[in-house]
Amino acid sequence: MRILSIETSCDETAISLLSISKNKIEVLGDALASQAKLHEEYGGVFPNLARREHQKNSIPLLIKVLKESKSLKVLKSKDESKLNKLKEILVREPELLEHMTNHIFNIKAPKIDLIAVTKGPGLEPALWVGISFAKALSELWGIPMIGVNHMEGHIASILLPQNGSQKSKVKSKKLNATQVLFPALSLLVSGGHTELVLVKDWGKYKVVGQTKDDAVGEAFDKAARILGLPYPGGPQISALAETIRNKENKSIEIKLPRPMMHTKDFDFSFSGLKTAVLYMVRDIPEMTNEIKTEIAKEFEDACVEVLIHKTKKAIEHFKVKALIVGGGVSANKHLRSNLQTMANEIGIDLHIPDKALSTDNAIMIAIAGYLNVYKKKKIVSQKNIRAEGHLRF
Ligand code: KG4
Ligand code: ZN
Repeated sequence: MRILSIETSCDETAISLLSISKNKIEVLGDALASQAKLHEEYGGVFPNLARREHQKNSIPLLIKVLKESKSLKVLKSKDESKLNKLKEILVREPELLEHMTNHIFNIKAPKIDLIAVTKGPGLEPALWVGISFAKALSELWGIPMIGVNHMEGHIASILLPQNGSQKSKVKSKKLNATQVLFPALSLLVSGGHTELVLVKDWGKYKVVGQTKDDAVGEAFDKAARILGLPYPGGPQISALAETIRNKENKSIEIKLPRPMMHTKDFDFSFSGLKTAVLYMVRDIPEMTNEIKTEIAKEFEDACVEVLIHKTKKAIEHFKVKALIVGGGVSANKHLRSNLQTMANEIGIDLHIPDKALSTDNAIMIAIAGYLNVYKKKKIVSQKNIRAEGHLRF
């Protein structure tokens, strides 16, 4: 099954084309445009800017993917028979409509069986661009479409190939949906979510713990901002912390709290940690790079300790056989090594995507789309998908 996937839930526009069957997954084409630099001055993602950028990026990325997968065939003349229908679908995305009429009407419908698009959770103005684009392509090329939960995408990302950090080098891998032992527990850590999800089988998810306030990625981003580091802050804090991670003697003692570490539930809280950094920075008369680095390390330690402690507790409580980790923060080196140590100690399988695929991408949306349809015999096209900013499992 050839699946075209579209991801526009946040500040990454991503499109990919995968060939997936029961025991093989192949990335035929993959393209991604990050807007992180543009959002930097706002210290976070600015929804309307994201929406405009998604409209601008969608067509060039699609063309790149079609070229890469050798699916681009140019027609001798433009077929404008569906122009009016597309005008209706893209009424709120005028820039995208213009790009489509200029660049897509003369492309022959490629061999694609399904279009999978992220329908939520995420920023609704951003999600709508991907959804409307999927609807327009579905109409133009007569291909069924389905909406996918972005968080299921992060879970499904562990089925992706793990050979090298370059996404473009990712080519093929056997997909065997039974390679994960169930029940499994999934730790999802991103800019918008921090959740522990019980995975009884593909498609059977139950949230057993979550953050009461900020997501861990959000806390990384906010703490970074307080420390004067650019957005997105996760990689920045991590890079700073890594510079002193193996150093023995420290001259400054920095201590931050471990919020909700010992509560009986499987929930988290990260906003107090960010506030603690804020007060700490406010009370330091003269900030130096050395202090900043120590704060970054202590902040990362606090986040990772809490995540590991609660995850371990949930693994034992629910007697799961595997741990699946996903979301942007799972790119964090310190978290990854601590997860591996914990998994080795307990003796369960750890499934974690390649670093480059931990953050948002379209490949994971194609796989989640496949998981959504693979048990059913036929695909039922969902033409009336709506953006669901707060979509839950
Ligand atoms: O999954 P993702 O790409 O987008 C959302 O769905 O939110 O996650 C983005 C988040 C950001 O908050 C970013 O700071 C964080 O992931 N992140 C990291 C690292 N790389 C990305 N946090 C800590 N360490 C990292 N290396
Ligand atoms: Zn994400």
